[in-house]
Amino acid sequence: MKASVAMETRLLLPTNENIKLAGDTLKKGGLVGIPTETVYGLAANALDGNAVKAIFDAKGRPMDNPLIVHISDFSQIEKFNLVREIPSKAYILAERFWAGPLTIIMPKGKAIPDEVSAGLDTVAIRFPSHPVTQAVITAAECPLAAPSANLSGSPSPTSAAHVMNDLNGKIPYIIDGGCCEVGLESTVITVAAEPPVLLRPGGITPEQLRDAVGDISISQAVLNKLNDGQKAESPGMKYKHYAPKANLILIKSNDKQYINYVNARKSDAVGALCYDEDTDKLLVKTFPFGSKFDYVQQANRLFDVLRTIDKTNLTTIYCRCPDTRGTAMAVYNRLIRAAGFEVIELA
Ligand code: TXA
Ligand code: MG
Repeated sequence: MKASVAMETRLLLPTNENIKLAGDTLKKGGLVGIPTETVYGLAANALDGNAVKAIFDAKGRPMDNPLIVHISDFSQIEKFNLVREIPSKAYILAERFWAGPLTIIMPKGKAIPDEVSAGLDTVAIRFPSHPVTQAVITAAECPLAAPSANLSGSPSPTSAAHVMNDLNGKIPYIIDGGCCEVGLESTVITVAAEPPVLLRPGGITPEQLRDAVGDISISQAVLNKLNDGQKAESPGMKYKHYAPKANLILIKSNDKQYINYVNARKSDAVGALCYDEDTDKLLVKTFPFGSKFDYVQQANRLFDVLRTIDKTNLTTIYCRCPDTRGTAMAVYNRLIRAAGFEVIELA
């Protein structure tokens, strides 16, 4: 196929035959969009540097942002020489949270190409719980490097349609496994440091991690903006993420203050990314993303709603600033980046 000709991207249901097709494509160095329980991933053979390089090209991802390596059985870590050693806390975390939405960073093994680790001496490993992800890894007979299957800078995809929207013409296949259960990317923790450091909050909360391994610290970049030139412990945290076309502004306030503030600014150009309970009280176009009491639901719907907002011509979106406890920390972490750290306090 000539590089200049856009390839046709086919959406495949996860039948046995299609999983085999995906596995064969990956074995030959190709890329496949795959569902996971967190978000859709753009997968390639993690042990093949050229295949991995194609992921960066398709996404427009900076080469200094390392990828997560996905496995379908714990024994693959040693079998494929993915890590130099498995620290004792990695065993504890794996036992408690795998298969599931947790990524564990460990000292890098010999088999990991530089393209995966972006030159770091560590590697991120994840064992997803989604049966289709596991089946594709097993069919490919190799661990899969997979970042979120969005174009760099847009919200992570939580449905096959989102992947098609971003990567149509750039990859041969997307496996359609329906909507993702968690809806935000995995929690990332490094055990290459002591105490372990939480680098990205997700469905597994800091409270759950502490319950498993005791003390952990939380990287400054999780809740705060890094100063210019400050080094990110996780390269992905330094990039502006999920920047919607409209200016997203977070409002730190109680219910009533938020509603009054937004209604006082009513115009055709203004919208509200709001809790379900607030929709009836707001006079602007609303984009509800879950109950104010249900952070898991908010996490699940957030990216889809951000993509919906991007299809409008609204120029300003007001959203309540979430809490930073439990799963809310993950919602806060994504929203504060989408808002470019712009918060208005109405205390
Ligand atoms: O849920 C997920 O984790 C999804 C699905 C597809 O598994 N994947 C995902 O990958 O979100 P990605 O590439 O979009 O995000 C990986 C994050 C980035 O912020 C990257 O900088 C960080 O993990 N990361 C990867 N390897 C690292 C390492 N060795 N040290 C520090 N951070 C690392
Ligand atoms: Mg990503």
